[in-house]
Amino acid sequence: MKIGVIGLGYIGLPTAIMFASSGHNVIGLEIRRDVVEKINSGRAHIIEPEINERLKKVIAEERLKATTRPEDLRGAEAFIVCVQTPLLDDSPDLSYVENAIRTIAEVMDRGALIVIESTVPPGTTVRMARLLEDLTGMREGIDFYVAHAPERVMPGRIFKELVYNSRIIGGVSPKAAVLAEKLYRSFVKGKIYLTTATTAEMVKLMENTFRDVNIALANEFAILAQQYGVNVFEAIRLANTHPRVRIHMPGIGVGGHCLPKDPYLLLSSAKKEFGLIRLARQVNENMPKIAVNLLFEAFERAGVDPSRATVVVLGLAYKGGTDDTRNSPALKLVKLLETRVGEVRTYDPYVGGTHKDIKDALREADAAIIATDHLEFKTLPWEELGSLMRTRILIDGRGIIAEPPADFIFLGIGRGDV
Ligand SMILES: NC(=O)c1ccc[n+]([C@@H]2O[C@H](COP(=O)([O-])OP(=O)(O)OC[C@H]3O[C@@H](n4cnc5c(N)ncnc54)[C@H](O)[C@@H]3O)[C@@H](O)[C@H]2O)c1
Repeated sequence: MKIGVIGLGYIGLPTAIMFASSGHNVIGLEIRRDVVEKINSGRAHIIEPEINERLKKVIAEERLKATTRPEDLRGAEAFIVCVQTPLLDDSPDLSYVENAIRTIAEVMDRGALIVIESTVPPGTTVRMARLLEDLTGMREGIDFYVAHAPERVMPGRIFKELVYNSRIIGGVSPKAAVLAEKLYRSFVKGKIYLTTATTAEMVKLMENTFRDVNIALANEFAILAQQYGVNVFEAIRLANTHPRVRIHMPGIGVGGHCLPKDPYLLLSSAKKEFGLIRLARQVNENMPKIAVNLLFEAFERAGVDPSRATVVVLGLAYKGGTDDTRNSPALKLVKLLETRVGEVRTYDPYVGGTHKDIKDALREADAAIIATDHLEFKTLPWEELGSLMRTRILIDGRGIIAEPPADFIFLGIGRGDV
Protein backbone atom coordinates (compact mmCIF):
# COMPACT_ATOMS: atom_id res chain seq x y z
CA MET A 1 0.00 0.00 0.00
CA LYS A 2 0.97 3.62 -0.37
CA ILE A 3 0.64 5.16 3.09
CA GLY A 4 0.90 8.83 4.02
CA VAL A 5 2.12 9.60 7.53
CA ILE A 6 1.52 13.20 8.56
CA GLY A 7 3.88 14.59 11.19
CA LEU A 8 7.28 12.91 11.61
CA GLY A 9 7.94 13.52 15.30
CA TYR A 10 8.48 11.18 18.23
CA ILE A 11 5.48 9.08 17.17
CA GLY A 12 5.16 9.68 13.42
CA LEU A 13 8.74 8.82 12.44
CA PRO A 14 8.92 5.43 14.22
CA THR A 15 5.43 4.60 12.91
CA ALA A 16 6.44 5.52 9.35
CA ILE A 17 9.56 3.36 9.71
CA MET A 18 7.49 0.38 10.94
CA PHE A 19 5.01 0.61 8.06
CA ALA A 20 7.90 0.97 5.59
CA SER A 21 9.84 -1.98 6.99
CA SER A 22 6.75 -4.16 6.80
CA GLY A 23 6.65 -3.66 3.03
CA HIS A 24 4.50 -0.58 2.45
CA ASN A 25 5.55 2.50 0.50
CA VAL A 26 5.46 5.36 2.96
CA ILE A 27 5.44 9.08 2.27
CA GLY A 28 6.05 11.12 5.41
CA LEU A 29 4.69 14.67 5.27
CA GLU A 30 6.43 17.07 7.66
CA ILE A 31 6.26 20.86 7.75
CA ARG A 32 9.78 21.25 9.14
CA ARG A 33 12.16 21.32 6.18
CA ASP A 34 15.26 20.62 8.32
CA VAL A 35 13.59 17.46 9.68
CA VAL A 36 12.68 16.29 6.16
CA GLU A 37 16.26 16.78 4.91
CA LYS A 38 17.73 14.95 7.89
CA ILE A 39 15.35 12.01 7.58
CA ASN A 40 15.96 11.65 3.84
CA SER A 41 19.69 11.51 4.51
CA GLY A 42 19.05 8.56 6.83
CA ARG A 43 19.49 10.34 10.16
CA ALA A 44 16.77 10.70 12.77
CA HIS A 45 16.21 14.06 14.48
CA ILE A 46 15.12 12.38 17.72
CA ILE A 47 16.95 10.09 20.12
CA GLU A 48 15.44 6.61 20.31
CA PRO A 49 17.16 3.21 20.49
CA GLU A 50 17.52 1.47 17.06
CA ILE A 51 16.02 4.41 15.17
CA ASN A 52 19.03 5.31 13.01
CA GLU A 53 19.74 1.75 11.81
CA ARG A 54 16.08 1.16 11.03
CA LEU A 55 15.67 4.52 9.29
CA LYS A 56 18.81 4.07 7.18
CA LYS A 57 17.51 0.72 5.95
CA VAL A 58 14.08 1.92 4.80
CA ILE A 59 15.56 5.04 3.19
CA ALA A 60 18.13 2.92 1.31
CA GLU A 61 15.36 0.53 0.18
CA GLU A 62 13.31 3.57 -0.94
CA ARG A 63 10.37 2.44 1.20
CA LEU A 64 10.20 5.73 3.11
CA LYS A 65 10.49 9.23 1.75
CA ALA A 66 9.95 12.42 3.71
CA THR A 67 8.53 15.50 2.03
CA THR A 68 7.15 18.95 2.71
CA ARG A 69 4.87 18.79 -0.35
CA PRO A 70 1.28 17.64 0.36
CA GLU A 71 0.80 16.70 -3.32
CA ASP A 72 3.32 13.84 -2.83
CA LEU A 73 0.60 12.14 -0.76
CA ARG A 74 -1.67 11.75 -3.81
CA GLY A 75 -2.63 8.14 -4.45
CA ALA A 76 -2.21 7.08 -0.81
CA GLU A 77 -4.70 4.47 0.30
CA ALA A 78 -4.22 5.24 3.99
CA PHE A 79 -3.26 8.36 5.94
CA ILE A 80 -1.94 8.29 9.51
CA VAL A 81 -2.16 11.58 11.42
CA CYS A 82 0.64 11.90 14.02
CA VAL A 83 0.79 15.67 14.59
CA GLN A 84 1.09 17.28 18.01
CA THR A 85 -1.93 18.18 20.16
CA PRO A 86 -0.56 20.64 22.73
CA LEU A 87 -2.36 22.85 25.20
CA LEU A 88 -2.84 26.54 24.59
CA ASP A 89 -3.72 28.27 27.89
CA ASP A 90 -4.95 24.96 29.35
CA SER A 91 -7.23 24.31 26.32
CA PRO A 92 -6.42 21.75 23.61
CA ASP A 93 -4.93 23.27 20.47
CA LEU A 94 -6.37 21.07 17.73
CA SER A 95 -5.24 23.32 14.88
CA TYR A 96 -2.46 20.87 13.87
CA VAL A 97 -4.93 17.99 13.55
CA GLU A 98 -7.38 20.16 11.68
CA ASN A 99 -4.68 21.36 9.26
CA ALA A 100 -3.61 17.76 8.65
CA ILE A 101 -7.23 16.82 7.88
CA ARG A 102 -7.57 19.77 5.48
CA THR A 103 -4.40 18.61 3.71
CA ILE A 104 -5.78 15.07 3.42
CA ALA A 105 -9.06 16.41 2.01
CA GLU A 106 -7.13 17.94 -0.88
CA VAL A 107 -5.28 14.79 -1.89
CA MET A 108 -7.37 11.78 -0.87
CA ASP A 109 -9.15 9.40 -3.23
CA ARG A 110 -12.41 7.51 -2.76
CA GLY A 111 -11.90 4.47 -0.51
CA ALA A 112 -9.16 6.07 1.60
CA LEU A 113 -8.65 5.17 5.26
CA ILE A 114 -7.74 8.03 7.60
CA VAL A 115 -6.37 7.13 11.03
CA ILE A 116 -5.83 9.71 13.74
CA GLU A 117 -3.06 8.55 16.08
CA SER A 118 -2.65 11.90 17.84
CA THR A 119 -4.20 12.01 21.29
CA VAL A 120 -7.40 14.06 21.05
CA PRO A 121 -10.38 15.07 23.24
CA PRO A 122 -13.44 12.78 23.07
CA GLY A 123 -15.54 13.58 20.00
CA THR A 124 -12.66 14.96 17.90
CA THR A 125 -12.32 12.03 15.47
CA VAL A 126 -16.06 12.12 14.65
CA ARG A 127 -15.80 15.89 14.19
CA MET A 128 -12.80 15.45 11.84
CA ALA A 129 -14.77 12.87 9.82
CA ARG A 130 -17.60 15.41 9.44
CA LEU A 131 -15.07 18.05 8.40
CA LEU A 132 -13.74 15.70 5.71
CA GLU A 133 -17.32 15.11 4.52
CA ASP A 134 -17.90 18.88 4.28
CA LEU A 135 -14.63 19.45 2.44
CA THR A 136 -14.88 16.56 -0.04
CA GLY A 137 -18.62 16.02 -0.48
CA MET A 138 -18.00 12.30 0.19
CA ARG A 139 -19.49 10.20 3.03
CA GLU A 140 -17.63 8.49 5.89
CA GLY A 141 -18.40 4.76 6.01
CA ILE A 142 -19.24 4.73 2.28
CA ASP A 143 -16.66 6.74 0.33
CA PHE A 144 -13.89 6.93 2.92
CA TYR A 145 -13.21 5.65 6.45
CA VAL A 146 -11.98 7.36 9.61
CA ALA A 147 -10.60 5.68 12.74
CA HIS A 148 -8.75 6.62 15.92
CA ALA A 149 -5.79 4.43 16.89
CA PRO A 150 -4.23 6.09 19.94
CA GLU A 151 -0.55 5.47 20.54
CA ARG A 152 0.57 3.85 23.80
CA VAL A 153 4.33 3.60 23.30
CA MET A 154 6.89 4.84 25.78
CA PRO A 155 9.89 6.79 24.46
CA GLY A 156 13.01 4.69 24.86
CA ARG A 157 11.11 1.46 24.06
CA ILE A 158 9.18 2.59 21.01
CA PHE A 159 10.25 -0.09 18.51
CA LYS A 160 9.46 -2.92 20.92
CA GLU A 161 6.20 -1.44 22.11
CA LEU A 162 4.94 -0.59 18.60
CA VAL A 163 5.04 -4.31 17.87
CA TYR A 164 4.06 -5.93 21.17
CA ASN A 165 1.69 -3.46 22.89
CA SER A 166 -1.98 -4.15 22.58
CA ARG A 167 -3.89 -1.46 20.72
CA ILE A 168 -7.33 0.09 20.87
CA ILE A 169 -8.80 1.03 17.50
CA GLY A 170 -12.04 2.97 17.31
CA GLY A 171 -13.94 3.50 14.08
CA VAL A 172 -16.29 6.34 13.19
CA SER A 173 -18.03 3.57 11.22
CA PRO A 174 -17.53 -0.12 12.14
CA LYS A 175 -15.88 -0.76 8.76
CA ALA A 176 -13.28 1.94 9.49
CA ALA A 177 -12.16 0.05 12.62
CA VAL A 178 -11.89 -3.22 10.69
CA LEU A 179 -9.84 -1.59 7.91
CA ALA A 180 -7.53 0.10 10.42
CA GLU A 181 -7.03 -3.19 12.27
CA LYS A 182 -5.99 -4.85 9.02
CA LEU A 183 -3.52 -2.05 8.33
CA TYR A 184 -1.91 -2.17 11.81
CA ARG A 185 -1.63 -5.95 11.59
CA SER A 186 1.23 -5.20 9.15
CA PHE A 187 3.51 -5.01 12.19
CA VAL A 188 1.45 -5.26 15.43
CA LYS A 189 1.79 -8.60 17.23
CA GLY A 190 -0.13 -7.48 20.34
CA LYS A 191 -3.91 -7.78 20.71
CA ILE A 192 -6.09 -5.27 18.86
CA TYR A 193 -9.43 -4.32 20.41
CA LEU A 194 -12.05 -2.66 18.22
CA THR A 195 -14.52 -0.08 19.50
CA THR A 196 -15.99 3.31 18.57
CA ALA A 197 -13.78 6.31 17.85
CA THR A 198 -15.00 8.26 20.89
CA THR A 199 -14.48 5.29 23.23
CA ALA A 200 -10.92 4.88 21.90
CA GLU A 201 -10.27 8.59 22.53
CA MET A 202 -11.54 8.29 26.08
CA VAL A 203 -9.57 5.10 26.76
CA LYS A 204 -6.28 6.79 25.84
CA LEU A 205 -7.02 9.85 27.98
CA MET A 206 -8.17 7.71 30.93
CA GLU A 207 -4.90 5.74 30.81
CA ASN A 208 -2.73 8.83 31.11
CA THR A 209 -5.03 10.48 33.64
CA PHE A 210 -4.86 7.31 35.77
CA ARG A 211 -1.08 7.62 35.82
CA ASP A 212 -1.10 11.35 36.54
CA VAL A 213 -3.56 11.04 39.43
CA ASN A 214 -1.63 8.09 40.88
CA ILE A 215 1.66 9.98 40.69
CA ALA A 216 -0.04 12.85 42.51
CA LEU A 217 -1.11 10.42 45.23
CA ALA A 218 2.49 9.16 45.51
CA ASN A 219 3.65 12.79 45.75
CA GLU A 220 1.17 13.41 48.54
CA PHE A 221 2.55 10.32 50.33
CA ALA A 222 6.07 11.73 49.83
CA ILE A 223 5.15 15.01 51.53
CA LEU A 224 3.61 13.09 54.43
CA ALA A 225 6.64 10.77 54.71
CA GLN A 226 8.94 13.79 54.91
CA GLN A 227 7.00 14.97 57.97
CA TYR A 228 6.77 11.55 59.64
CA GLY A 229 10.46 10.67 59.33
CA VAL A 230 9.77 7.90 56.83
CA ASN A 231 11.56 6.95 53.59
CA VAL A 232 8.60 6.97 51.21
CA PHE A 233 10.37 4.68 48.73
CA GLU A 234 10.75 1.97 51.36
CA ALA A 235 7.13 2.52 52.46
CA ILE A 236 5.88 2.23 48.86
CA ARG A 237 7.91 -0.92 48.26
CA LEU A 238 6.37 -2.48 51.35
CA ALA A 239 2.82 -1.28 50.58
CA ASN A 240 3.17 -2.74 47.09
CA THR A 241 3.65 -6.21 48.56
CA HIS A 242 -0.13 -6.10 49.12
CA PRO A 243 -1.70 -8.12 46.30
CA ARG A 244 -4.12 -5.36 45.28
CA VAL A 245 -1.96 -2.24 45.77
CA ARG A 246 0.35 -0.66 43.20
CA ILE A 247 1.46 2.77 44.36
CA HIS A 248 3.32 4.86 41.77
CA MET A 249 6.64 6.66 42.30
CA PRO A 250 6.85 10.24 43.63
CA GLY A 251 9.30 12.80 42.26
CA ILE A 252 10.00 16.34 41.17
CA GLY A 253 7.03 16.35 38.81
CA VAL A 254 5.46 14.97 35.66
CA GLY A 255 6.60 16.02 32.20
CA GLY A 256 6.67 15.01 28.56
CA HIS A 257 4.27 15.75 25.77
CA CYS A 258 1.47 13.56 27.14
CA LEU A 259 0.89 13.20 30.88
CA PRO A 260 0.66 16.89 31.81
CA LYS A 261 -1.78 17.67 29.01
CA ASP A 262 -3.93 14.57 28.55
CA PRO A 263 -5.95 15.10 31.78
CA TYR A 264 -6.91 18.54 30.44
CA LEU A 265 -7.82 17.00 27.07
CA LEU A 266 -10.09 14.59 28.92
CA LEU A 267 -11.82 17.42 30.78
CA SER A 268 -11.91 19.90 27.91
CA SER A 269 -15.38 19.12 26.56
CA ALA A 270 -17.01 18.09 29.85
CA LYS A 271 -19.82 20.08 31.47
CA LYS A 272 -19.51 18.37 34.88
CA GLU A 273 -16.58 17.03 36.89
CA PHE A 274 -15.62 16.44 40.55
CA GLY A 275 -12.28 18.24 40.49
CA LEU A 276 -10.04 15.32 41.50
CA ILE A 277 -8.21 15.24 38.16
CA ARG A 278 -7.49 18.98 38.28
CA LEU A 279 -6.29 18.77 41.89
CA ALA A 280 -3.89 15.96 40.94
CA ARG A 281 -2.50 18.17 38.17
CA GLN A 282 -1.92 20.98 40.69
CA VAL A 283 -0.12 18.61 43.09
CA ASN A 284 2.23 17.44 40.33
CA GLU A 285 2.77 20.99 39.02
CA ASN A 286 3.79 22.06 42.51
CA MET A 287 6.56 19.48 42.97
CA PRO A 288 9.49 21.59 41.66
CA LYS A 289 8.63 24.06 44.46
CA ILE A 290 8.91 21.23 46.99
CA ALA A 291 12.43 20.53 45.71
CA VAL A 292 13.32 24.23 46.06
CA ASN A 293 12.02 24.18 49.65
CA LEU A 294 14.31 21.23 50.42
CA LEU A 295 17.23 23.11 48.90
CA PHE A 296 16.55 26.16 51.06
CA GLU A 297 16.31 23.96 54.14
CA ALA A 298 19.77 22.58 53.25
CA PHE A 299 21.13 26.11 52.70
CA GLU A 300 19.95 27.04 56.18
CA ARG A 301 21.59 23.99 57.72
CA ALA A 302 24.86 24.73 55.90
CA GLY A 303 24.71 28.47 56.56
CA VAL A 304 24.78 29.28 52.84
CA ASP A 305 23.38 32.59 51.58
CA PRO A 306 21.05 31.58 48.67
CA SER A 307 21.69 34.83 46.79
CA ARG A 308 25.39 33.90 46.55
CA ALA A 309 24.88 30.20 45.99
CA THR A 310 25.69 28.26 42.82
CA VAL A 311 23.23 25.43 42.18
CA VAL A 312 23.67 22.66 39.61
CA VAL A 313 20.54 21.04 38.19
CA LEU A 314 21.39 17.50 37.08
CA GLY A 315 19.06 16.56 34.26
CA LEU A 316 16.81 18.63 32.00
CA ALA A 317 14.89 15.85 30.22
CA TYR A 318 11.50 15.00 31.65
CA LYS A 319 12.58 11.42 32.25
CA GLY A 320 15.67 9.23 32.20
CA GLY A 321 17.27 8.08 28.96
CA THR A 322 15.68 10.67 26.66
CA ASP A 323 16.50 14.12 25.25
CA ASP A 324 12.83 15.16 25.42
CA THR A 325 12.44 18.31 27.55
CA ARG A 326 8.80 19.05 26.72
CA ASN A 327 6.97 20.18 29.88
CA SER A 328 9.97 18.98 31.86
CA PRO A 329 9.70 19.76 35.59
CA ALA A 330 13.49 20.22 35.51
CA LEU A 331 13.03 23.30 33.31
CA LYS A 332 10.46 24.64 35.74
CA LEU A 333 12.91 24.03 38.57
CA VAL A 334 15.62 25.95 36.71
CA LYS A 335 13.23 28.88 36.21
CA LEU A 336 12.30 28.94 39.89
CA LEU A 337 15.94 28.80 40.95
CA GLU A 338 16.99 31.56 38.57
CA THR A 339 14.94 34.07 40.56
CA ARG A 340 16.11 32.80 43.94
CA VAL A 341 19.80 31.81 43.89
CA GLY A 342 23.03 33.40 42.71
CA GLU A 343 23.85 31.14 39.76
CA VAL A 344 22.12 28.17 38.14
CA ARG A 345 24.11 25.65 36.10
CA THR A 346 22.68 22.71 34.21
CA TYR A 347 24.10 19.40 33.04
CA ASP A 348 22.31 16.70 31.05
CA PRO A 349 24.21 14.02 29.10
CA TYR A 350 21.38 13.75 26.52
CA VAL A 351 20.14 17.33 26.24
CA GLY A 352 23.26 19.40 26.91
CA GLY A 353 22.97 22.31 29.32
CA THR A 354 25.18 25.16 30.47
CA HIS A 355 28.04 22.68 31.08
CA LYS A 356 29.19 19.73 28.96
CA ASP A 357 31.17 18.10 31.74
CA ILE A 358 29.69 17.23 35.12
CA LYS A 359 32.94 18.03 36.90
CA ASP A 360 33.05 21.53 35.38
CA ALA A 361 29.42 22.01 36.38
CA LEU A 362 30.04 21.02 40.01
CA ARG A 363 33.33 22.91 40.47
CA GLU A 364 32.90 25.46 43.30
CA ALA A 365 29.14 24.80 43.38
CA ASP A 366 27.12 24.85 46.61
CA ALA A 367 24.45 22.33 45.75
CA ALA A 368 23.35 19.74 43.20
CA ILE A 369 19.73 18.76 42.56
CA ILE A 370 18.93 15.55 40.70
CA ALA A 371 15.96 16.42 38.49
CA THR A 372 16.01 13.53 35.96
CA ASP A 373 16.41 9.82 36.63
CA HIS A 374 19.08 9.25 33.96
CA LEU A 375 20.85 5.95 34.56
CA GLU A 376 24.14 7.89 34.58
CA PHE A 377 23.06 9.76 37.72
CA LYS A 378 22.40 6.64 39.78
CA THR A 379 26.02 5.75 40.30
CA LEU A 380 27.86 9.08 40.38
CA PRO A 381 31.11 9.08 42.43
CA TRP A 382 29.88 11.63 44.96
CA GLU A 383 32.97 11.37 47.15
CA GLU A 384 35.15 12.53 44.26
CA LEU A 385 32.63 15.06 42.92
CA GLY A 386 32.05 16.44 46.42
CA SER A 387 35.72 17.37 46.66
CA LEU A 388 35.16 19.81 43.76
CA MET A 389 32.22 21.53 45.41
CA ARG A 390 32.31 24.58 47.69
CA THR A 391 29.44 23.25 49.81
CA ARG A 392 28.33 19.62 49.71
CA ILE A 393 24.57 19.73 49.37
CA LEU A 394 22.76 17.06 47.38
CA ILE A 395 19.00 17.09 46.80
CA ASP A 396 17.47 13.96 45.27
CA GLY A 397 14.34 14.90 43.37
CA ARG A 398 13.93 11.45 41.84
CA GLY A 399 14.53 8.95 44.62
CA ILE A 400 17.55 7.43 42.87
CA ILE A 401 20.14 7.73 45.64
CA ALA A 402 19.63 4.83 48.04
CA GLU A 403 22.58 5.60 50.34
CA PRO A 404 23.25 9.29 51.06
CA PRO A 405 26.91 10.06 50.28
CA ALA A 406 29.16 10.68 53.29
CA ASP A 407 29.96 14.29 54.27
CA PHE A 408 26.98 15.67 52.32
CA ILE A 409 23.90 17.46 53.52
CA PHE A 410 21.48 15.15 51.73
CA LEU A 411 17.74 15.74 51.40
CA GLY A 412 15.28 14.17 49.01
CA ILE A 413 11.64 14.28 48.02
CA GLY A 414 9.94 11.71 50.25
CA ARG A 415 13.11 11.11 52.29
CA GLY A 416 11.86 11.80 55.80
CA ASP A 417 14.51 9.37 57.04
CA VAL A 418 17.53 11.61 56.35
N1 LIG B 1 5.61 11.42 22.38
C1 LIG B 1 5.00 10.39 22.97
O1 LIG B 1 5.61 9.66 23.73
C2 LIG B 1 3.54 10.09 22.69
C3 LIG B 1 2.99 8.90 23.17
C4 LIG B 1 1.65 8.63 22.89
C5 LIG B 1 0.88 9.54 22.17
N2 LIG B 1 1.44 10.70 21.75
C6 LIG B 1 0.61 11.64 20.98
O2 LIG B 1 1.02 11.59 19.61
C7 LIG B 1 0.89 12.88 19.00
C8 LIG B 1 2.22 13.30 18.41
O3 LIG B 1 3.17 13.45 19.45
P1 LIG B 1 4.72 13.60 19.14
O4 LIG B 1 5.40 13.48 20.45
O5 LIG B 1 5.12 12.70 18.03
O6 LIG B 1 4.75 15.13 18.62
P2 LIG B 1 5.94 15.86 17.84
O7 LIG B 1 5.80 17.30 18.10
O8 LIG B 1 7.24 15.16 18.14
O9 LIG B 1 5.64 15.55 16.30
C9 LIG B 1 4.64 16.16 15.57
C10 LIG B 1 5.23 16.54 14.22
O10 LIG B 1 4.17 16.91 13.35
C11 LIG B 1 4.63 17.98 12.52
N3 LIG B 1 3.43 18.65 11.98
C12 LIG B 1 2.53 19.44 12.60
N4 LIG B 1 1.55 19.80 11.78
C13 LIG B 1 1.82 19.26 10.58
C14 LIG B 1 1.17 19.26 9.31
N5 LIG B 1 0.03 19.92 9.13
N6 LIG B 1 1.74 18.60 8.29
C15 LIG B 1 2.90 17.93 8.46
N7 LIG B 1 3.57 17.87 9.64
C16 LIG B 1 3.03 18.52 10.68
C17 LIG B 1 5.46 18.82 13.46
O11 LIG B 1 6.35 19.65 12.76
C18 LIG B 1 6.16 17.73 14.28
O12 LIG B 1 7.42 17.36 13.73
C19 LIG B 1 0.39 13.80 20.11
O13 LIG B 1 -1.01 13.92 20.04
C20 LIG B 1 0.77 13.08 21.39
O14 LIG B 1 -0.06 13.42 22.46
C21 LIG B 1 2.76 10.99 21.96
